Amino acid sequence: MKKHTLAVTAAFSVLALAACGNGSDSSGSTAGGGGGGADMRLALNQTEEHPSFIALDNFGQKLSEDTEDRYSIEVYPNEELGAQAEALQYVGDGSVDLAIVSGTQLENLNADFAAFNMPGAFDSVEHQMEVIHDEEIVGDLYTSLEESNNVTILGGFTQGTRSIYSDKEIRTPEDMAGMKVRVQESPLHIGMIEAMGGSATPMAFGEVYTALQSGVLDGAENNEVSYFTQKHFEVAPVYSRTNHLVGLDYLIINTDVLESMSEEDRQAFLDGWTAAHQEHTQLWAEATDQAIADAEAGGATFVDVDAEAFAEAIAPLQEEFLTTDSQKALFDAARAAAK
Ligand code: GCU
Repeated sequence: MKKHTLAVTAAFSVLALAACGNGSDSSGSTAGGGGGGADMRLALNQTEEHPSFIALDNFGQKLSEDTEDRYSIEVYPNEELGAQAEALQYVGDGSVDLAIVSGTQLENLNADFAAFNMPGAFDSVEHQMEVIHDEEIVGDLYTSLEESNNVTILGGFTQGTRSIYSDKEIRTPEDMAGMKVRVQESPLHIGMIEAMGGSATPMAFGEVYTALQSGVLDGAENNEVSYFTQKHFEVAPVYSRTNHLVGLDYLIINTDVLESMSEEDRQAFLDGWTAAHQEHTQLWAEATDQAIADAEAGGATFVDVDAEAFAEAIAPLQEEFLTTDSQKALFDAARAAAK
């Protein structure tokens, strides 16, 4: 039953908006209004071999079938429609219908998202997926940007476990002293890299390869799948398993576009999305193993770190960055759902 509850929330919020007369054709979106159907565009910053592209592309095909071509989704990979910070704005103004954005981007619009960007929020991909698709936990969070930004959050994909990589082994926080490490554009993650001993350099995802290559950066942090698919292993061949957090991406949609769907089409859309994030979770473990093998074949090495030293270094982040009751409640709800 649970997997349908978010669909209900989204549908409910849409109906509530419609009742307030706060929506319909104001966005200028490619999807238009009035339930007429549309070719929707989805902004993604990953390559076509990444599980996110695969699951979203399948989602688009299924949606066309299920709505008899009233709706379709074209997935634009590789930041073709812009980096995530831009994509988030475009979804709000309706020039793009859908995007995958990291939780770090949403943290800049509503600090409550920091609760799920916090190291230690999630123990595993499965735990994370359960929490972020539990309407009781995330219902208010996912509609919190509708009035301010015209953006509805539908749920998410895991980013897997993130670690540090560079051209040298990192075993302890001391090894990161003086290193310029790329970080996503989030106050919490900037604080995290500083706590881990490095010097944080916020930057868009698509710029990281060149910055590592040219020496603007000494390192970066990501999961194994992006480490391989973005070819970062070529310019930062040592992946040091700090495993500092399980990261999170969200699917976002222009609220007016969601609202303009007929009830039947919206249900097909939400059911298709549920199938897509389930497929993504299934693909993730295998994609991670494959990425490790492929990166190793390409010359990368994977090393273990002093996990206790890193855990100790980042422990103060919770108190420093989760300061409001709503942030603490979300973090606590995530922890309470851990097995
Ligand atoms: C992961 C994540 C992306 C994010 C990227 C980053 O690859 O899936 O959404 O943009 O990390 O570090 O920027």
